[in-house]
Amino acid sequence: MKKSQSYANANIALVKYWGKSDIALNIPAMPSLSMTLDGLGCKVCVEPSSTSSSHELFIDDEKSLGPEFTRLSVYLEQVRGFYSFDGFLKISSKNFMPMSAGLASSAAFFAALATALNDHFGLNLSPKSLSRLARLGSASAARSIFSKWALLEGGEINDDEAHALPIILPDSLDLAMLIAVTSTAKKAISSRDAMKITGASSPYYPAFLATHRGDFKDMQAAIRDGNFHLMGELMEHSCMKMHACMMAARPSINYFNHDTVKLIHFIYEIRKKYGPIAFFTIDAGPNVKILCRSQHLELVKSAFSLSGLCQDIYVSRPGLGAYVVES
Ligand code: PMV
Repeated sequence: MKKSQSYANANIALVKYWGKSDIALNIPAMPSLSMTLDGLGCKVCVEPSSTSSSHELFIDDEKSLGPEFTRLSVYLEQVRGFYSFDGFLKISSKNFMPMSAGLASSAAFFAALATALNDHFGLNLSPKSLSRLARLGSASAARSIFSKWALLEGGEINDDEAHALPIILPDSLDLAMLIAVTSTAKKAISSRDAMKITGASSPYYPAFLATHRGDFKDMQAAIRDGNFHLMGELMEHSCMKMHACMMAARPSINYFNHDTVKLIHFIYEIRKKYGPIAFFTIDAGPNVKILCRSQHLELVKSAFSLSGLCQDIYVSRPGLGAYVVES
């Protein structure tokens, strides 16, 4: 049988989701809105397994039998339940970014995998159904199916309604994202587990749920109006509200390290000096993503490079959605 290869970029949410309304189907508890990151992604190859009894996973040429393999096997069996197929699969991935450090590597992996599975089995899925297939593996992956900017529905909705859609920004919003890496260490707790703990024990989670839809609508309006300043404020609000919720859980979940906090203050300093040109967001990891207009990219990048707080800085523009790589 043929070998199918696909590539997908990671994406970063400006308005984040946190928690699931349906754990088995991996439906997010609330909507989210993201930028697809050009050049930070993952290539996935799907072919028949060399064994007749199990799937196989190779990450950057190394066989994986750890938690990633277990998660993949569960996903592939779920896919088999929806689109029956015979035998087992060998999945090989090559990452073009650090894994498990809050840089959305699982979003890129599952978006590329869903796209490769669609090609391998000739499923001919529409972009919406492909996004839904990616979501079953990782909810944020649903957004990486689409180019540039996407929104993912969430809440009390059905399996087939929980997919992403592309959104178009006005031309005046020519934006870029910087990824300031403070650590590439594997995170101590997966976002999936952290969501469960937060939902079960954070007294702030109900407030997060109750106010999220308003933030999401305000962000959509800010985008429509081309209001970068308001977009930035709302992005930081969504991020800090999510992390405050996690920090108030039992046990407390704190993805920030020393440099994450220093970088937040560094951005405040930049805004004091230059005005509202840069805003941050942080996912389930210690790295800081900074949104700015393209015209300020060089200024912001050199300020961060000189700060001495980042191990690495990646620059990304709105990137392509997942696609099949012809071999
Ligand atoms: O869907 P996951 O398991 O990749 O978790 C995503 C969690 C956040 O990045 C913090 C939020 C989001 O909307 O991407």
